[in-house]
Amino acid sequence: MRVDVVTLFPELFDTFLKTSFVGRAMTGGQLEVRLRSPRDFGLGKHKSVDDTPYGGGSGMVMRVDVMVACMESLDADAEAEGKPRARRVLLTPQGQPFAQPIAARFSVEPALMLVCGRYEGFDERIRGFVDEEISLGDFVMTGGEIAAMAVIEAAVRLIPGVLGNAASTHEESHAEGGMLEYPQYTRPAEFRGQTVPEVLTGGNHAHIEAWRKAQSEERTRARRPDLLVDKERG
Ligand SMILES: C[S@@+](CC[C@H](N)C(=O)[O-])C[C@H]1O[C@@H](n2cnc3c(N)ncnc32)[C@H](O)[C@@H]1O
Repeated sequence: MRVDVVTLFPELFDTFLKTSFVGRAMTGGQLEVRLRSPRDFGLGKHKSVDDTPYGGGSGMVMRVDVMVACMESLDADAEAEGKPRARRVLLTPQGQPFAQPIAARFSVEPALMLVCGRYEGFDERIRGFVDEEISLGDFVMTGGEIAAMAVIEAAVRLIPGVLGNAASTHEESHAEGGMLEYPQYTRPAEFRGQTVPEVLTGGNHAHIEAWRKAQSEERTRARRPDLLVDKERG
């Protein structure tokens, strides 16, 4: 999978792309990331990428001409190398909330382009140049880079072979069943008076499986009843 990232701060991705399973996916060839700054397409002596809003108001708005030039340059490079055009994703608090089904859909895309904003956000006309808009949640950050990293991390770990143990992505919270994961324990067997449920140490796999299923349902009902409603609605 290739991920093109449009960002004014490519250096924010340095450690992220070298660490843990994302780093291994990069060196293993399952993930290729290209970072490109709109600054390279900025205007004038100062390489400006933003301007004041029409109609007045606070802050600066990212220019559509500069952003699209940067996005199109990534597509042109891909085309020159015979690689697929990326699906363009605008990162914005006004987008569809990111969730596991979207991560699963992205994980099978041959190429994604994640467009990160800064300042007061984008000139509205950029929306005509993207395929979809994604939000990390109902809060506002200063830039789209952390959202881009979240999208990369959630999608790449679903690519077959990227994680050592494929079962872990099927059994965890928000996986195919749409529920929260059951409680997990490891050593020590007793910590400050808290013990591990007996069923987990008994060695009966059918009982363990039934307990985990019941716990998963109970936990989802208690913490996220909305997920059960979504599941019933299909
Ligand atoms: C300060 S925000 C702009 C917010 C914009 N003025 C608004 O009210 O919708 C600057 C940039 O950070 C990114 N950003 C902030 N919050 C985000 C979120 N919840 N999800 C995805 N990107 C976000 C976007 O790329 C956005 O263009």
